[in-house]
Amino acid sequence: MAPSSTNRGRRRVLLLPLPYQGHINPMLRLAATLHSRGLAVTILHPETRAPDRRKLPADYRLVTIPDGISPELAASEDIASFVFALNKNCAAPFGDYLAGALRKEEEDGRVAFVVADVDWFAPLSVARELGVAALALMTSSAARFLVYLAYPSLSHKGYLPVQDSNFNTAVEELPPFFVRDLHRVMDMTRHLAYADLLAHIVAGVRQSSGLIINTSGDIEGMEIERIHSEIALPVFAVGPLHMMTSSSSVESSLLTEDRSCLDWLDTQRPNSVLYVSFGSLVGIDTDEFLELAWGLADSQRPFVWVVRPRLVHGCKSSTLPDELQEKIGNRGRIVSWAPQQEVLRHPSVAAFLTHCGWNSTTESISEGVPMICRPLSGDQMGTARYVCDVWKVGVRVEVENQLKREQVQTAITRLMDGKEGEEVRERMRDLRHVVVKCTSEGGTSDVALQRLVDSNV
Ligand code: UDX
Repeated sequence: MAPSSTNRGRRRVLLLPLPYQGHINPMLRLAATLHSRGLAVTILHPETRAPDRRKLPADYRLVTIPDGISPELAASEDIASFVFALNKNCAAPFGDYLAGALRKEEEDGRVAFVVADVDWFAPLSVARELGVAALALMTSSAARFLVYLAYPSLSHKGYLPVQDSNFNTAVEELPPFFVRDLHRVMDMTRHLAYADLLAHIVAGVRQSSGLIINTSGDIEGMEIERIHSEIALPVFAVGPLHMMTSSSSVESSLLTEDRSCLDWLDTQRPNSVLYVSFGSLVGIDTDEFLELAWGLADSQRPFVWVVRPRLVHGCKSSTLPDELQEKIGNRGRIVSWAPQQEVLRHPSVAAFLTHCGWNSTTESISEGVPMICRPLSGDQMGTARYVCDVWKVGVRVEVENQLKREQVQTAITRLMDGKEGEEVRERMRDLRHVVVKCTSEGGTSDVALQRLVDSNV
């Protein structure tokens, strides 16, 4: 886009999202909140999984960074290799762009600061070398960042890699976590690769100008305090970011939403439907897929289920056996991608069976929808610990080894019928109130965001 005279004298923020849906969403939400507070916005993104220009405000500047990533690596589940390759390949082109932006500040707006996902450790250091303030965005929780900080000592003390024998050991250094809640990498090679990635991430953050976290001091106050005590940097808890901006200003889905499920929800009774989704990244095996489907069918509850392409390992699309289809009939609606926030907001939706991705969790809290937790990897087990045992706004699907349909049904009954479910719903109403308050004018997240906008980091 050509430089505009309206940018003259304006402060500009350069944002660098990691190209995964669960990272793009919070970064674009941050962009929208900074934009609404007067900053001009440039989004720098790698070629892989670029955001759709047409869905973003016309005055955002979008810049593509050549990333040299092969389609095989982009599609692989080896996230550590993908992130290392991005950092290696994108650092120099990012530096060239930033140096050019600094030369053109007169007409394009002064570069106030750069915000890069914590995983973008190389661009964070390039910005620092060019004398530009660069902040890291932690798109997940503060508790998850504490795991990042503690990873070397947890490995040293033998908690990691996680083993069957220590699964149920409490991690005294990191309450409320048990070993099973830490990153569930069980083989040494992948553990070492992941530890190396986290070491780079933490070093990048330590050398940055500050850490922005997609959380609120009102729900993770102690965790933020602890981060403060471990890193000598300004920390801005400005979330949940989707509540800091109107959703219509952020359209960041990489997949096409099937909006027909909203019409279907209109035909359902209030507070009756279970929404089921495992986010954008994790996969499940065919056995888990079928047991889950049977559990939903046997529960007799209406449901909307997101079965996105490649959700089931090795299958591009997943259809249910005829017998199951017949049993479900029109009681269940399967879509390949949903307008999730609108679904959660719909009055027919009563509960969310979720993998506990941080975005899904905070989106559920903001709509006051209690959760049934089936965490699978990464930060999800830790977030489920907070949902079920700290905030107590959800129940777990209790799984021994392989998921069984009865376990799904039991969890649905616990949450959607009876006294336990009523108590969970009441606590969820209270928690929703807390996040609404902290993201409203004068709330802790609102104040932290303004502190970020006004700061000369
Ligand atoms: C992953 C991790 O699980 C997450 O915890 C981490 O913080 C980021 O990377 P993902 O698995 O995709 O993310 O889950 P989640 O964090 O919940 O993000 C998914 C996003 O996709 C949410 O914003 C959700 O609203 C959106 N979504 C999901 C849709 O818009 N439609 C869908 O059908 C499903």
